[in-house]
Amino acid sequence: MWKELLDPYEQAVSELLVKFRNLKEEHRKKNLYSPIESVCGRVKSVASILDKMQRKNISFENMEEEVEDIAGVRIICQFVEDIETVANLIYRRTDMEVRSKKDYLTNKKASGYRSFHLIVWYTVQTVSGPKRLQVEIQIRTMAMNFWATTEHSLQYKYRGQIPEHVAERLAASADAIVALDEGMSLVRDEIMDAQRFRQTEIELVQSILTSIENLYRVESEREVQKIQDEFYRIYSLHNIDELDRFAKQLDILAEGAGAQSVDSSIRN
Ligand code: GTP
Ligand code: MG
Repeated sequence: MWKELLDPYEQAVSELLVKFRNLKEEHRKKNLYSPIESVCGRVKSVASILDKMQRKNISFENMEEEVEDIAGVRIICQFVEDIETVANLIYRRTDMEVRSKKDYLTNKKASGYRSFHLIVWYTVQTVSGPKRLQVEIQIRTMAMNFWATTEHSLQYKYRGQIPEHVAERLAASADAIVALDEGMSLVRDEIMDAQRFRQTEIELVQSILTSIENLYRVESEREVQKIQDEFYRIYSLHNIDELDRFAKQLDILAEGAGAQSVDSSIRN
């Protein structure tokens, strides 16, 4: 009975892992900053399901409805700001429907736990037809994840009865994690700048290559070879202003040679 019951949850977790990892990959391919750093997931063990049912007085009949985290996916972000971005991506998707949310960011738990949770409805296709089930999606930063993972193993070690002095240390560490996330948020803008810088660089290189291609039609091969060498030299400086200056120079050169209007779409 358990295997049959849990199989669709296994399927849901593996499908969602593929989907969220793809989302990260899509950002990378488009040279965009990805709000998703990594993704992992699991299906709750039968022992943990039984524990939770006992703890919350849940009947077998109501299990699938009330144990919302049989399927669990965790999305790890670099920065606190990314959490909202990821949540919005999920809200906009048509393959999952948000049932409820728990915001332990604005209201951190007494333990010190911080994270943002969404319970979503997700449908898997099985041989016996579609099955709609719940998935708990936890979204948190790497720092929050570090704290939660460590605290969780201590909970496990002490069977939920963490000694006072350990709990105090954990609470203090949770505050340190808040400070760390805030500090990293300040660095985030720098990273965004770096990415914009990279995008500009890519566009300038594109424009330079187009100019060189056009110059090939009107200039001698030796002349163009010289320009190309100069481009490689300037590119290796990784100085965006130099690159910009060179792109403009080439533009003027191409214009002077009457080549600037020759774009590849006309030629082909
Ligand atoms: P569980 O029975 O633990 O699933 O809690 P719940 O169904 O009442 O919901 P809650 O929002 O409290 O917790 C959902 C999940 O968040 C848990 O299964 C944990 O993965 C995580 N979580 C919640 N509180 C803590 C905490 O204090 N420490 C850690 N490490 N994780 C927590
Ligand atoms: Mg849980």
